[in-house]
Amino acid sequence: MSETRQECRFCAGGCGEQAKYAELDTVIESYKDREGCLIMVLHAAQEIFGYLPIELQTYIADKLMIPLSEVYGVVSFYSFFSMKECGKHTLRVCLGTACYVRGGMRLIEHIKEKLNVEVGGTTADKTFTFEVARCIGACGLAPAIMIDDEVYKHVTPKYLDEILAGY
Ligand code: FES
Repeated sequence: MSETRQECRFCAGGCGEQAKYAELDTVIESYKDREGCLIMVLHAAQEIFGYLPIELQTYIADKLMIPLSEVYGVVSFYSFFSMKECGKHTLRVCLGTACYVRGGMRLIEHIKEKLNVEVGGTTADKTFTFEVARCIGACGLAPAIMIDDEVYKHVTPKYLDEILAGY
């Protein structure tokens, strides 16, 4: 049986990090030696940890006995892998043409100010990762935003405050 990392990077194990590594070890054990196992392990690792920081990539490379450069190459190639810690929810403001002309930028500025976060960043409380979208298919109801898979239409700053309060 493989050796499980014993200590969390941040505490003595009370934050659940140890359990996450144990879960990852189980995944690695079940996939290793299978073709394409790296992708499957990385998907599972992102599911478990939420993102793939370099120290986690190093851990996976060691466990699979492959170079870190190979792991890093895959993580950086595919856009669905993230090396940055994401929030619990993804908040996207549409800045496609229809939303842009109907106030999308006003929503961007409102979010920046209200949540103290820049586009591409995550709020300090890790509730939201803030992104911009090109078009989310609700042009006739612009400006629109998305939170995870939920689309909100005709969004005004006031309505946005109400939406955010629900999270
Ligand atoms: S431009 Fe915003 S939904 Fe299409």
